[in-house]
Amino acid sequence: MAWYDRHARILPWRVAPGGGPADPYRVWLSEVMLQQTTVAAVKAYFERFTTLWPTVEALAAADDAQVMAEWAGLGYYARARNLLACARAVAAAGGFPKTRDGLQALPGIGAYTSAAIAAIAHDAPETVVDGNVERVVARLFAVETPLPAAKPELVALAETLTPRERPGDYAQAMMDLGATICTPRNPACGICPLIHDCRARAEGIAASLPRKAPK
Ligand code: ADE
Repeated sequence: MAWYDRHARILPWRVAPGGGPADPYRVWLSEVMLQQTTVAAVKAYFERFTTLWPTVEALAAADDAQVMAEWAGLGYYARARNLLACARAVAAAGGFPKTRDGLQALPGIGAYTSAAIAAIAHDAPETVVDGNVERVVARLFAVETPLPAAKPELVALAETLTPRERPGDYAQAMMDLGATICTPRNPACGICPLIHDCRARAEGIAASLPRKAPK
């Protein structure tokens, strides 16, 4: 957390470290956009959407064709259709559900997105595991089981690390660590805040993890 306080990426949907919970609408919109699309590509789309539709109620009232047109370029158009269906369900219900189960009942929200919204917007101690976090955890614990078989083990290990304090900042710290230091190739172990905790580093196998089952 000390590392994140100093090195958090500044992202348009993000509250500065220690700034408390974020707006669930902005967390949800950014996480849906970030599925299968890079942070760099999402930034401009996120700014445009939140300028046009600053609240979930505004998006719920939007014209379908305009939303699809603004989504053009992000790909995976089923996401945009689910986005509108979800915005309308949330607006009709008077706001986003507070629990993971409630969130997962909404269109387009699965295990990952429900955990991200619960942690980042509701400050719930939920464990958020994306590809970045899988890599960090596989290296920290030197998990040599290949993906995808290793996924349940990695989730269970990640759950042991999730703190009760600032779970949203913690979730984003793990993502930033994976995106900027614990990278797939040539990880920057020399500047990693977890260098002394990392079993893969100690064993000299960090860059080879996580292993992937041959396709
Ligand atoms: N990728 C997906 N969600 C993210 C977030 N909240 N911060 C940084 N990278 C992300």
